[in-house]
Amino acid sequence: MRIHFKALPGKGCSRERPVTVDRLRRTGLYLPAMLGEIERKTAEVRGEWEKGRAGVESLQDLEELRVRFLGKRGYIAQLFALLRTLPPEKRAAAGKLINTLREQIEGELESLKGQLAAKAEAERLKREAHDFSLPGVWRGIGNLHPLTQVRLEIERIFMEMGFDVASGPEVETDYYNFEALNIPADHPARDEWDSFYIDEGLLLRTHTSPVQIRVMKSKKPPVRIICPGRCYRRDNPDATHFPVFHQVELLWVEKGLTMAHLKWIIEVFVREFFGPGYEMRFSADFFPFTEPSAQVHIRRAGGPWLEIMGAGMVDPAVFEEVGYDPEEVTGFAFGLGIERMAMLKYGVDDIRLFFQNHLRFLEQF
Ligand code: DAH
Repeated sequence: MRIHFKALPGKGCSRERPVTVDRLRRTGLYLPAMLGEIERKTAEVRGEWEKGRAGVESLQDLEELRVRFLGKRGYIAQLFALLRTLPPEKRAAAGKLINTLREQIEGELESLKGQLAAKAEAERLKREAHDFSLPGVWRGIGNLHPLTQVRLEIERIFMEMGFDVASGPEVETDYYNFEALNIPADHPARDEWDSFYIDEGLLLRTHTSPVQIRVMKSKKPPVRIICPGRCYRRDNPDATHFPVFHQVELLWVEKGLTMAHLKWIIEVFVREFFGPGYEMRFSADFFPFTEPSAQVHIRRAGGPWLEIMGAGMVDPAVFEEVGYDPEEVTGFAFGLGIERMAMLKYGVDDIRLFFQNHLRFLEQF
């Protein structure tokens, strides 16, 4: 809407532009306005304001409305311009009228602004509302690799029986891996441990047994340790072989230990690890570092015998090598494969599954 001032104060001012006293003077149309005329125009502006106010829906609408009424060239400014054409003695009354309207508009703009802001805030809160009663989205936190789980379980069982956990290097010397374990360079038993040689006299350890030597060389008896760790052999991968695998070595050296203690330790371990209901069988074997040596099998009643480890009484030659007196102490040791334990426990029939790391396999544990 525009308020047409062209009828005021006389003919001629036909363009719809804000009326200013200056312009009226310039155009020669300056004629004093009538008080009644201003009252009428003010009422018209008020009517217009009420219409405009009703249609406001956004802060932007509101700003447009403000400019239209209170802006430099807005209706109120136009009314004031008209006011200045009144004879001075009539201005006070008309000015009061316009001011009242201006104040009304200002006040209402302010409160509309408040209402719109509150509405916007309420909408924002509604949009951002969270429904805490909805079920959450479960993001799996992952789990330990089955070989790690089995290793930790084995460690737990032996630590509860009073064993310490020892470790040694994966890159070993020929001396610790073979010589000190009573396997001289030309010994045919070396065939069993197909090795990755790194350098003259250096290799990736083929078993965890060298840790026995390192521990015994570093302390006096009694010794009660287990040593879990990675081992390497030049095996071609198949269902039961992999060039990298894990063992847990056990060594107990003390006065008066016999094969019966070894049997007891293994029995406790099997019951803890596999659960009750297993039978155990020792059969003769050969390892250069134990005498006698044994292979240990377990089975459920009627089931097939499953080999779980190699074991034996520590050979006196090994004790002599590390400076222990074989007349003074005896001891036993065993080495078990972590992969083998995991395969038996979980019914996994291919060792390679542990190293392929397919999530569909790993997520089952
Ligand atoms: N080191 C042997 C291997 O890797 C396993 C073993 C057998 C360890 C008898 C022992 C033991 O400590 O007494 O095949």
